[in-house]
Amino acid sequence: MAEWFETWFDETYLALYPQRDEEEAEHAAELIERLVGHRRVDRVLDLACGAGRHSRALAERWWTAGLDLSEVLLAVARQADAATPLVRGDMRVLPFADATFGLVVNLFTSFGYFDSDGEHSDLIREVGRVTASGGTFVLDYLNADLLSRELIPYDESTSDKRVIVQRRSISEDGLYVTKRISIKGEEREFVERVRLFSRAELQGMMTDAGFDVTSVIGNYDGSQAGDDSPRMILVGTRR
Ligand SMILES: C[S@@+](CC[C@H](N)C(=O)[O-])C[C@H]1O[C@@H](n2cnc3c(N)ncnc32)[C@H](O)[C@@H]1O
Repeated sequence: MAEWFETWFDETYLALYPQRDEEEAEHAAELIERLVGHRRVDRVLDLACGAGRHSRALAERWWTAGLDLSEVLLAVARQADAATPLVRGDMRVLPFADATFGLVVNLFTSFGYFDSDGEHSDLIREVGRVTASGGTFVLDYLNADLLSRELIPYDESTSDKRVIVQRRSISEDGLYVTKRISIKGEEREFVERVRLFSRAELQGMMTDAGFDVTSVIGNYDGSQAGDDSPRMILVGTRR
C-alpha cells in the first residue's frame, strides 16, 4: 500500500492550504538569507520543494534546484517557473554527487514522515553527504513539544468555499501526530502523519551527519526558539 506522503500532496493539498503561499515563502527566504550571512553559496537545494514557492524565492538570490516526490506539485512548480531545475525523487536517496550544495533547505515540516527513525537519520546523512564543507543546512520543523502540549483535536475552516475538518491525535507512544483531513459533504479523507522529534533528537541527528548546529530559530521572524515558539528551525554548518 502507498505511504500517505506518496498520495496526499496533490491538487487537493494545494487547494485546501492556499495560505501556504508566496508571501510566506518570501519571509522564509529572507530569514535564510540572513542566516547564511556573508558565506558564499554557489548552489542551493530546496529539498521537498513541493509546488516550488521557496525555490522561486531562493532562485532570486542564488542558483537553486528543487527535489520532490510529487509529480503533481512539480508540474505546478514548472508551470510557474520553467528556469529552475526541478527533479523528481525520494529525499531518502539523493541523486546528487557529494558536496554539491552550499545550502540545503528542508522547509515547512517536510521531514518526519517515515516509519522508522533510521530512515530519518539516514536522510539527514544524505543531506550531509551532498552539502559542501562550510555549507549550511536549514531544517524547518514543527515545535513538537508545543504541538503535543496544546493539541487541537478538532477544528473546521473554510477554504475554496469548502468546509475543511481537521482531526488531530497523538499516538499512544507519543511519537507521532496524525492529522485526518476531510471536506464536509465529501467522503474522501486525507492523512498526514509526522514524527514528533524533540530538539535534542534533531540536533543529535544533524551532529551525527556532520553538521555543527549553530542556532535554533523559533519563527520566520528570526527569533530564537523557546518553549512556545511555533517552529523549530535548526541551522547547521557542515564540518
Ligand atoms: C508540507 S509539503 C511542503 C512543500 C514545500 N516545502 C512548501 O513549503 O511548500 C511536504 C513536501 O514533501 C514532499 N515529500 C514527501 N515525501 C517525500 C519524499 N520521500 N521525497 C521527496 N519529497 C517528499 C511532498 O511531495 C511535499 O511536496
